[in-house]
Amino acid sequence: MYISRKGSQIKPSSTLAITAKAKEMQDEGVDIIGFGAGEPDCDTPSHIKQAAIQAIEEGFTKYTPVAGTIELRKAICHQLQQDHGLIYAPNQIVISNGAKHSLTNAFMAILNPGDEVIIPAPFWLSYPEMVGLADGIPMIVYTKKENQYKLTPEELENAITSRTKAIIINSPSNPTGMIYTKEELQALVAVALKYDLYIISDEIYEKLIYDGAIHVSVPTLGADVYEKTILINGVSKSYSMTGWRIGYAAAHPKIASVMSNIQSHGSSNPNSIAQKAALAAYTGPQDCVEEMRRAFEERRNYMMERIEQIPNISAFKPRGAFYVLFDMSELIGITYEGEIIHAADDLARILLEKAQVAVVPCADFGCPNHIRLSYAISMDNIKKGLDRIEALIKDLLFLDASV
Ligand SMILES: Cc1ncc(COP(=O)(O)O)c(C=O)c1O
Repeated sequence: MYISRKGSQIKPSSTLAITAKAKEMQDEGVDIIGFGAGEPDCDTPSHIKQAAIQAIEEGFTKYTPVAGTIELRKAICHQLQQDHGLIYAPNQIVISNGAKHSLTNAFMAILNPGDEVIIPAPFWLSYPEMVGLADGIPMIVYTKKENQYKLTPEELENAITSRTKAIIINSPSNPTGMIYTKEELQALVAVALKYDLYIISDEIYEKLIYDGAIHVSVPTLGADVYEKTILINGVSKSYSMTGWRIGYAAAHPKIASVMSNIQSHGSSNPNSIAQKAALAAYTGPQDCVEEMRRAFEERRNYMMERIEQIPNISAFKPRGAFYVLFDMSELIGITYEGEIIHAADDLARILLEKAQVAVVPCADFGCPNHIRLSYAISMDNIKKGLDRIEALIKDLLFLDASV
């Protein structure tokens, strides 16, 4: 069967393999604790669901403008102004089927074949694939743990070539949970502007931040930064609406118009009913967001306390999003039941098979000796899952020492 070069080059999601195996074991009646969740565990707030029900009952079930309804685009402009003092007009907003779709549109709008996009590692695993789909070349720049996985201006400048077109900034970050400060962002965007790069700022986790951290939205850093930034956000994470598929981009009107043209042929408008739900999310009560944020902070604190008691692993304390990245480097090379652990993939498989815990190995996130655990699961399951991980690691170290 003939498959296009581009199609054949796209990697399947590595997280899906372990998720599928975990699901298979669960279906066979095995009690699996899953730390893979990329979405909040709570339901979409009821006022948001009611708005969707009302939309259906009122027959709001037809095509809408490609970039989304004017009322939702205005609500997004209002939110951006209220939260960050950012002034956008509705013709600068393109609403899509999730932030993932917004990112895909953005890369298609700005990249020519061979254009390079700088992606600091660890990164969300879809970025390189999205860049490749748009005929761009992902240029991975490895950040350092001692720098809290933050890209430095020097590292950025060293990675820039004559083909560099854009840089991705994802703060708060998936998978590390790091957040850039205003000063750090200023230093990075200064380099980006020096080389006239676009800045793709993925701020999807902006509301889920801890320890009193402050989220700085990249386009607030100056008029010239605003011009070159494509801001990506949406309702998926903040309002527990991952299945509704509503995300948006805020950009220069020219870029927004190109993104809208691309979308018009690919998928037309985002779902009309989900747009009404998103409108209720942005214009309705916001206490649901704070409630969720507080629950995540409590779970993160618990996880960090427990990790300190587990030998030979360490973790960077996340300040945002809902993931903890475990550094498993010290366990690489250990033999367990006759098998050498070569990378975190092996460890993730052993954790699943021997401890019935599903975690995400992070080779495809640009950090092969790490696993990612989500704390968007119940506290009970976090406790149970960490008990199992601790027991397995102690067993593993004991057996290795006794060989
Ligand atoms: C960093 C990051 N950006 C974007 C997305 C996609 O969000 P959406 O579900 O709205 O497409 C995710 C989802 O996991 C993410 O982690």
